[in-house]
Formats: sequence, C-alpha cells, structure tokens
Amino acid sequence: MADFYITTAIDYVNGLPHVGHAYEKVLTDVIARFRRLMGDSVYFLTGTDEHGQKVQQTARARGVPPRQFADEVSAEFRAMLPRLLISNDDFIRTTEERHKRVVRELLQRLFDKGDIYRGEYRGFYSTRQEQFLLEKDRNPDGSWPDIYGEVTQIAEPNYFFRLRSYQEWLVEFLARNEGFVFPRFRQKQVTEFLKDPLNDLCISRPRERLEWGIPLPFDPSFVTYVWFDALANYYSAVADRPGVWPAALHVIGKDILVPPHAVYWPIMLHAAGLALPRGLLVHGWWLTSGAKMSKSAGNAFNPLELVDEFGADALRYFFIREMNVGQDGDFSRELFLVRYNSDLANDLGNLVNRVLNMTSRFAGGAVPAAGAEGEAELELRALWEATSRDYVALFGQYQFHTGLERLFAFVRSINAYVEKRAPWKLGKSADPADRALLQTSLAVMAEALRLASAALRPVMPGATATIDGVLGSRPSGAWLDELAWGGRLAGAKVSPALVLFPRPLPAAGKAP
Ligand code: MSP
Repeated sequence: MADFYITTAIDYVNGLPHVGHAYEKVLTDVIARFRRLMGDSVYFLTGTDEHGQKVQQTARARGVPPRQFADEVSAEFRAMLPRLLISNDDFIRTTEERHKRVVRELLQRLFDKGDIYRGEYRGFYSTRQEQFLLEKDRNPDGSWPDIYGEVTQIAEPNYFFRLRSYQEWLVEFLARNEGFVFPRFRQKQVTEFLKDPLNDLCISRPRERLEWGIPLPFDPSFVTYVWFDALANYYSAVADRPGVWPAALHVIGKDILVPPHAVYWPIMLHAAGLALPRGLLVHGWWLTSGAKMSKSAGNAFNPLELVDEFGADALRYFFIREMNVGQDGDFSRELFLVRYNSDLANDLGNLVNRVLNMTSRFAGGAVPAAGAEGEAELELRALWEATSRDYVALFGQYQFHTGLERLFAFVRSINAYVEKRAPWKLGKSADPADRALLQTSLAVMAEALRLASAALRPVMPGATATIDGVLGSRPSGAWLDELAWGGRLAGAKVSPALVLFPRPLPAAGKAP
C-alpha cells in the first residue's frame, strides 16, 4: 500500500548524468520526504530508459553490445542516487524482465481490443542516421542538412495505436481535471496541442532497422517504439504491488510533457482500462547562459563535482532555493557559490556555531530552560509561527523556493536576535536579571535553530540530521508537532563546535 506513489522520468542511458538529471531526482526526493513527514505512506520510483535507436547507435560506436553499454551507464545513474541523498524505494530498468513482461501484456491487451492495428508508415528516411525525418529537420531552404546523407522517401509496414479515437475523451478529461498538470500554464499547452487532430501513434520499428527493443508480442519482427516502452515503467514497476498504482505524481521536465506524458500516457492507460495518475509536475530546465544544459550541447556539468566539494545538502539546497518549479533557472558555479556562502556558510552555518559555542561557554554545554520572555523573544516566536505555517503550505503547493526564502529570513532573524541580546555581554554581568535573560536567550536561540533545522529536513536531510545531533535533539517522527515552538531542548547536551558549511578556498572556488 502507498498513499503517495511518486516517480521521476527515467533517464536515457546514451549519456552520463548531468545537472538536469540530478535536479529532477532532488526535486522529487524533496516532495517524497515532505509527504513522508506529513504522514503519507510514500513509494518513490526512479530508473533508466534503455532501449531505442540512440542507445543502439552509441553502443555500436563504442564497439560494445547494447546490453553491456546500458548496464554500465545505468549503473552510473544508480550510483548517483545515494550521493544526492535520494530516498527512492525502487529503481527500474526498462531492460528488466519485470518491465518487459508488462509492456508485452499492455501491447497484447490493446491489440486484442483493436486499439493497435497494422498500417503503413510513409516518410523521409536518412539511412546514414537510421531515422525518419520530420519537416522541421529541413534547412530553411527546404533541403536536408548534410548530416543526414542521402534522404529518401520510403514506406514501411508498422503498427499504430489509435490515439485519435481517444482525443475527445482526453480533452474532456483535462477539462474536468484542471489541476492535472502543474503549473497551470503547462496544462494550457496540452489543451492547445489537442486543438489539432491527433495522428495515430506508430508504436513499432522493424527489427531489421532496430534490434534493441522489446519485440511486439503479436509480431516479433518488430520491436516496440521506445516511448511506448518507457512510459509503461511507472506501471510495470508496481504491477505486482497491490495498492500502489495509480501514481500520485509524475515529476518530469517540460520537454517531455507534450505529447508523451500528457497525451500518449493517459490514452495508453485509459485504453488499457487502468487508472490515471493524479497529476504531473512539470519542471523547467537548468540553463547556462540561456542555453539548455545537455550532453549534446557540450555544456553539461557533472553535479557530483559539487557534491564532492560542498556536500549533497548544499547542492540540494541550491537546486530547491534557486529554481521556481515550472520556470527555467540559471546554473553556474558562481551562482552556486553565492548561495552557498550567503545562506549556508554565513546565515545557517554561523548560527549553528554561535548556538553551540555560547551554550558551551555560558551554560556548561546544556541548553537552559527559558525564563520570562521579553519583546524580542515574543517577536521571534510570532515570526516563527507565521513562517512555519506558510512554509508547510508553500511546500504543499510546490513553492519550495518561496518557502526557503521565508525560512532563511527566519534564520537571519535568529541571528539578529542573537546580536540584540548579545549573550557575550550578558555573560559578563553579575546582575540576576541579566543572568536570567542570558538563560532565556540561549534557550530561545537553540529552540529557534532546532525549528529551522526540522523545517529544512526534506531539503537537507544530511545537514539537518547533523544539526539535530549536535543540538542533542531527537526528532519524534511527528513532524508538524516538531515544528511547534516548545522549548524542547531544555537540558539537552550540545556538542562544543561544528563547522557545517566550510567556506571554500578563494583560489579554488573563485569566491566573491
Ligand atoms: N528517457 C526520457 C524520459 C522517459 S520517462 C518515461 C528522457 N530522458 S532524459 O535523460 O533525456 O531526461 C530525463 C529527465 O531529465 C527529463 O525529465 C528531462 O526534462 C530532465 N532534464 C534533462 N535535461 C535537463 C535540464 N537541463 N534541466 C532540467 N531538467 C532536464 O527524456
């Protein structure tokens, strides 16, 4: 059973993981962790998409069998997950038997119903690239680019899936479910796309052109079109797990919404008599100087380099703080360093240090109980109440960047509170009122840090566990309770010091 089944797109294995792949895993993981903390039973799936022309070609170019090639690259994607602290429950590969079996069953079911028929595909074909070309592939003057070599018009038998018969159903479904695609403007793109009549989808490739795929169960001289195969992963991974399907959320990038996830997939499911996912969350792209980061563009950035240097939590924070889900975002080492230095090393890291340091110096390393609260304490507490309420609501609406912005405003307010109370001055005073205020201020800063850390848990699971550890705080499991201001640390033994986010060396990091 799962109340919340969440998936990422499955990555092509014709290139190595880059920032876009890492981001999508982190975003999905933040949602998965958030839902778990909110009490849902979550099932989280990710994996690799391994069949098709590109993989076959890349493997050939390297002189290795496609299976071996796919094994190697899939292993790289899989190895990235723990390094990014991804809490997935399963990892599916489309080359696994459990997946292929379900794809065959789906195809057979649709074939038996008459939703798949044999027809003829006509089009322009490039023998050099081994692919059919579209009108958009032409040069502006109508000729074909040289990379395609000789282009000929061919017709070949193939199998087609009756998309068009389901177009009206899909249009109505989307009208009834206005929030199916998040953000809303993406759902509008889908409805726009559906204003033109759909063509039936060619779901086969002749074996002589493409070996590397799942043979059609009703005609093994063809293999399955890679998108039909890949989309089925979301279902095939849980087909044997009662109570998991349908998915609550498919997290995908904007390039694969229309038509695969918003048109092919709902129609495939509906035609096969399976329940539809509850929603699609469509994120934008990470760009470098306005261009999409991708292997083919040569501007792909290996996210694991930043993890090695700054830790997974820092990269996760950057991704989630910087990207407004749905929009595009700019990625560069410089932008990363600005966030790292200001929010993590400075605001949060300093606060951790101050709390530990002052609790050790002025309270023998045990968090005191708060005494009477003055205006500054009440203000900070009121700010927390508003911040935490909005933070949870914003996370529920995928507005993570705004949630984090608010949370870090709170962290800065804790630092401002510390400046205002100046425990280092109170600690020098013999006045009993000052001594009482010292205790209260130490208690309040520790409690406020505990709360900020609890809130950050879905985004920075590693760093927040470390903060909990040094504060002597034991998370209870009931997250919303933990987010309530409550002087829970009274008596807790803190560690003497911790540098959580060390500042990078200026020479290595070109730090500002
Ligand atoms: N294999 C298909 C998906 C099949 S899902 C049934 C595919 N693979 S991919 O490797 O090209 O992309 C995987 C995911 O990474 C997609 O959701 C894609 O949008 C995302 N990203 C790839 N590059 C990206 C950026 N530069 N920025 C953010 N995400 C992007 O598509």
